[in-house]
Amino acid sequence: MRKPLIAANWKMYKTPAQASEFVTNFLPLVAGHDRDEIVLCPSDTSLATVIASVQGTNVGVGGQNMHFAEEGAYTGETSAQMLTTIGATCVILGHSERRQYFCETDETVNKKLHAALKYKLTPIVCIGESLAEREGGHTEDVLRRQATQALTGIAPADAEPIVIAYEPVWAIGTGKTATPEMAAEAHLIIRSEVARRLGRSVAENLRILYGGSVKPDNATALLNQPEIDGALVGGASLDPQSFARIVKY
Ligand code: G3P
Repeated sequence: MRKPLIAANWKMYKTPAQASEFVTNFLPLVAGHDRDEIVLCPSDTSLATVIASVQGTNVGVGGQNMHFAEEGAYTGETSAQMLTTIGATCVILGHSERRQYFCETDETVNKKLHAALKYKLTPIVCIGESLAEREGGHTEDVLRRQATQALTGIAPADAEPIVIAYEPVWAIGTGKTATPEMAAEAHLIIRSEVARRLGRSVAENLRILYGGSVKPDNATALLNQPEIDGALVGGASLDPQSFARIVKY
């Protein structure tokens, strides 16, 4: 049985004080909730604050990105070791905004995946097609390519912590949500590609999240789809009541 994961990707929002206020308001709303794993992914500047605020609760904390190098002259970057030593337990990799604005590639995502696993971070690997790719009938090719290249060199025995987030680029921040059926179809493609690369057992146990305009009013339909093992939520995760409603779908 795959335990659902509901993760908040706050992107470049919330100062540490605003992050702390969110946690103060959010924790009571999800107290005792253990059906789903809950994770908050703030900006790096708020990581320490949020990690301290959720200590001893049912809420985990992750980063939104990391570099694949152990350390070095990479101005502005954060390593996996830096994330784990402050208490982060997971990290988002390959988000489409990083692919679009910051030259993230399938190759760098793969390098980051190896580094995240080495430091025992739960990697949430984002893949998804653009509107042009979907309209051109290339969705399956894109998902298989991104999944395959992200998993290059990963041994089945090391794959257990990996989470994949299917985030159709055309649904991110647009209010256009994939229908539960579209999302489930994409998840089946991803899961079949993982099975091809890493075997059926890994594929059956791997969690595949949906991300792209998840809101309280569409979360239940999406998250009740057997193929959808959780959500990666952007805009709707910035408000504690809204994100709590999604968590309790
Ligand atoms: O990583 C999740 C994010 O890309 C989805 O954003 O605002 O469409 O929920 P949003």
